[in-house]
Amino acid sequence: MNVEFFPVSRLRRLAERVAKRLGLARVAGLSTGSVESAYARWAPVYDWVFTAPLVFGQRAAAREANRLSGELVEVGVGTGLSLPLYGENLTVTGIDLSKPMLERARERVRRKKLKNVATLRAMDASEMDFDAARFDIATVMYVMTVVPDPSAVLKELERVVKPGGTVIIVNHFAADKGLLALIERGLARFASTLGWDPLFRRETVLDNTSMELVREERLGPLGLFTMMVFRRQA
Ligand SMILES: C[S@@+](CC[C@H](N)C(=O)[O-])C[C@H]1O[C@@H](n2cnc3c(N)ncnc32)[C@H](O)[C@@H]1O
Repeated sequence: MNVEFFPVSRLRRLAERVAKRLGLARVAGLSTGSVESAYARWAPVYDWVFTAPLVFGQRAAAREANRLSGELVEVGVGTGLSLPLYGENLTVTGIDLSKPMLERARERVRRKKLKNVATLRAMDASEMDFDAARFDIATVMYVMTVVPDPSAVLKELERVVKPGGTVIIVNHFAADKGLLALIERGLARFASTLGWDPLFRRETVLDNTSMELVREERLGPLGLFTMMVFRRQA
């Protein structure tokens, strides 16, 4: 007889049902429509929940971008938390799949009178409506783990960024060893509930791009996030 003293599977099923009702079901692997409805639910509370944990990566990416100048596209701009961090040497375009998230970003631009933000547009990062080589810089923060097809997004980044241009990706990547790796493996069974994949590997990015990785930096909090800076081959 199989006696389950600690009903993990039942708890997991319950957590998944609650997450589904709240629209927090796993984003990776879902359709574009599911991502849109999940972020429509996140939009009103997103800043409250995510400002503190995500600020390290946003600051690091903006600092990196601010060393350069020209046209920047922020892919998956969300509620625009990072928009006030860009310098006036950059003309910023933001895109996101979620209109409610973009509406918050527009409010932020109005409220903070951000003159360097040129456009915020609803657009799928895996099929961008921009000419090739349109931008000098692209920033992609906390997006790769939630898009249905990361390799398609990487191809589009290479297409829309000019030869010699810069692509800055900030994300959580699975640890190879140590306590963090153990925790991530434990969390992986709850991936659908968490809304992101704790086992998303940096190789998923590296193996799907021909851009040159010029720098990689671990970021806070607790080194959980990584910034990768790529240069598109001239
Ligand atoms: C975790 S949020 C990160 C938002 C923002 N980068 C930040 O740092 O706060 C992920 C964002 O990616 C957007 N997103 C997901 N899939 C997308 C896609 N295929 N194209 C464009 N945006 C997408 C979501 O709508 C959401 O706003």
